Amino acid sequence: GDGDDDKAVKLGFASLPNSMTDACVVPAGYVASVIGAWGTPLNDQAAPWSNEGRNTSQDLLHSTGMHHDGMHYFPLADSSSEGLLVVNHEYIDEKALHPNGPTSVGGKRPAEEVRKEINAHGVAVMHVRKQGSQWEIIQNSRYNRRFTSATPMNLSGPVAGTDWVKTPFSTTGSQVRGTNNNCGNGTTPWGTYITAEENWAACFVNTGEQTAAQKRVGVQAKLGRYQWETAAGDASEQQGEFARFNITATGTDGLQDWRNEVNGFGYLVEIDPYDPGSTATKRTAMGRFAHEGAAYGIPVAGKPLAFYSGDDSRFEYIYRFVSEALWDPKDAERSDRIAVGHKYLDKGTLYVARFDAEGKGEWLALTPATKGKDGRSLGEAFGNIDAILINTRGAADFVGATPMDRPEWTAVHPSNGDVYLTLTNNTSRNAERGTNPANPRLNNVNGHIVRWHDDAGANTFRWDIFVFGSDAAGNADTNRSGLTEMNQLASPDGIAFDDRGILWIQTDNGIDGGRNNAVAKATNDQMLAVVPGAMKDAKGTGPVINAANQAELRRFFVGPNEAEITGFAYTPDHTSIFLNIQHPVNWPAYGTADATRAPDGKVRPRSSTVVIQKVDGGPIGV
Ligand code: FEO
Ligand code: CA
Ligand code: CA
Ligand code: CA
Repeated sequence: GDGDDDKAVKLGFASLPNSMTDACVVPAGYVASVIGAWGTPLNDQAAPWSNEGRNTSQDLLHSTGMHHDGMHYFPLADSSSEGLLVVNHEYIDEKALHPNGPTSVGGKRPAEEVRKEINAHGVAVMHVRKQGSQWEIIQNSRYNRRFTSATPMNLSGPVAGTDWVKTPFSTTGSQVRGTNNNCGNGTTPWGTYITAEENWAACFVNTGEQTAAQKRVGVQAKLGRYQWETAAGDASEQQGEFARFNITATGTDGLQDWRNEVNGFGYLVEIDPYDPGSTATKRTAMGRFAHEGAAYGIPVAGKPLAFYSGDDSRFEYIYRFVSEALWDPKDAERSDRIAVGHKYLDKGTLYVARFDAEGKGEWLALTPATKGKDGRSLGEAFGNIDAILINTRGAADFVGATPMDRPEWTAVHPSNGDVYLTLTNNTSRNAERGTNPANPRLNNVNGHIVRWHDDAGANTFRWDIFVFGSDAAGNADTNRSGLTEMNQLASPDGIAFDDRGILWIQTDNGIDGGRNNAVAKATNDQMLAVVPGAMKDAKGTGPVINAANQAELRRFFVGPNEAEITGFAYTPDHTSIFLNIQHPVNWPAYGTADATRAPDGKVRPRSSTVVIQKVDGGPIGV
């Protein structure tokens, strides 16, 4: 090499074996503990969590939400023992949330149950502090906040204020209530959090004629995912508290019905955790689809900023937003952070990726001038930029983007800028749909990780495949990376670099739907670590991790039965890392990371954050 390897951080733990237990497993010398399990009160307005599911909607409004996902640690005064932990609450386990699961009377959901479900979604900002080696949430801190699927938020960028988003609630199209199904996350160079709206479309129902955009994102035709639209509201129903989830057109325009409510969802949403009085802001210029996180390229003074975001569904695309404003490093220090967001995130160009052969690729601009495959421009086919953004997927189809194997999270190497993105799996990639150079396996049950290198000022990129998921016993076509029992993985999902250059890879292998692939039959979901070299050293289109060097990919953590491992955060001194256990079935017991201490062996499951530290208090991973 060129010397990079000599400076590179080295992993200092032994890879863990496969595990299938109701506990969290960490390497020797490490300890894991639970913080912020769902229902943990953030202030005195919430009653303590009930092991019988008896908490109210008001309790949930003032407690940690359910099904933790993307996450970030924002230090206070650069501290590694006090900060703001911001956590997405993606969706809910209705069975665990209510005393006896969800109910419905005469086809209508009870209002209080629905309010509780709405309040269990969204985002939590939690003021956390470490005393000794014990992390805790500081109850009643002024920083503690909940954003739910009913919290008023601002719309910003090209779609804001257009007819697309005018509703009886916001006749000017400037606001919408709630953020939904927040999966991966991102941050910005100016210290804000980005939460990504992923499977929001399923919460809306249109029993009438659906628009092309509604069909393309998967709005429901009969009943919403949780049937929220069936609940009868009280006086607040005047404002469509529940009716807004039924977007069937009934009047002559969107000010008389809720047809436009759905157009307020599907965005990256910016939150300023440091300012408890700030309003969450939906950045419509960055596209509308099933966003799975957002990662920014290394900021360069005087150059535009780039943000990358995957669209997680089968055969969907990878997007890049490039700011019109050029980066001014002084903006990283400003205290009016949402205003900085307006500067960089409201004006710019959204691109979608086309992966070509031989490691070449091109970013296709989703702007009115871009020509589609049929020779017409996007402007001729879709209209103005707001219409293009509302149907981002349709516009990406039109210009010939490359259909991928479910794009999940994105991570950017802290010093060389290489971009890594998890393609979790795609069991629908059959012979009829065919493969393409960046998605080369049919029936891709294991997924892979693609990476590229680009420049925010250019529209071409180079790419390769970093690693192919596989079981250790997979044949040569499946186990292209030569994985072993000690690092076999499938369905990579969460992915993040820490600032030392360690890449952390998390899996969501569908174990909650049955152990349906060879890796799922061998181990629970996990987090692995690797220190990748720069892409300039890569040979062609990979895999980069192959039989010769796969030993550098090590398993660091294995979670409890059926749970997904997702979300990654760390303190600036690297002595604490945080991850999330989502949708466990028999974990955790009594606030420990171990379920085996429950006397009857059964617990009401609680998605939770887990903090991992070394027993000797040293830096994690090395
Ligand atoms: Fe919510 Fe794509 O994972
Ligand atoms: Ca995910
Ligand atoms: Ca997933
Ligand atoms: Ca999941």
